[in-house]
Amino acid sequence: MRKTIVANWKMNPENLAEAKKLFAAVKKIKFDTKKVSVVVCPPAIYLPEIARNYRGKSFQFGAQNVIWSENQKKSASNALTGEISAEMIKDAGAEYVLVGHAERRAIGENNMMAAKKAEQVLRSGMTPLICVGEIERDLQGEYLKFLEEEIRETFSKVKKNQVRKTMIVYEPVWTIGAGHSAMSEHEIYQMVIFIRKILVSIFGRSLAMSVPILYGGSVDNENSKNILAIEGIEGLLVGRASLHTNTFSEILKNI
Ligand code: PGA
Repeated sequence: MRKTIVANWKMNPENLAEAKKLFAAVKKIKFDTKKVSVVVCPPAIYLPEIARNYRGKSFQFGAQNVIWSENQKKSASNALTGEISAEMIKDAGAEYVLVGHAERRAIGENNMMAAKKAEQVLRSGMTPLICVGEIERDLQGEYLKFLEEEIRETFSKVKKNQVRKTMIVYEPVWTIGAGHSAMSEHEIYQMVIFIRKILVSIFGRSLAMSVPILYGGSVDNENSKNILAIEGIEGLLVGRASLHTNTFSEILKNI
């Protein structure tokens, strides 16, 4: 099974010229495309410029967010100032969209909004990278209930015939960003089993097994290889480390 590596550039780099420079360096990385599929998620404003000018086959593109409502083709007004629809993202050259990322949830996105976003992404024929993860851990195991509810609600609009088009990204929020470190391999393995069990209870065994589980949160060139070796982990969401071409290159080459 090919591993999927998602580069989440977040709100970086500072301008289009830098974004083009970064992608020019990234696209020179040589890696085994039989083993790895790479999805680059630049800020939406850079996406069309980067994705449409890319002629190769080694990289695919994703957006970091989307609005949950459909683009109304006729009659309606599309009155949603400042928003970008799934159709627009697809037209810009993307095939994936991050849905429910922790940093969006931190500024008010809830499970229902994320569920509707996933619905729109699927409707437009793209793959939602559905992000879930507990905010903190507690000794009583409340975090497991939190995560289960988050998964159930965020997947609530995925129809059975769409399950195979989705991916789930497990990102424990307490491991994301500067000053944090990745979860231990043992803990990730336990969480993979837990997440798989929830997916099985929603969609049944065979569909649930078709949803790749990715891990995110302080992935770097030192830990990526071991995390990818964990049974059941089929990819990584890489934030900070995806902005440093040498580090990102090592992550891809290590696979
Ligand atoms: P990080 O971010 O790798 O910088 O921790 C991961 C993410 O995109 O959430």
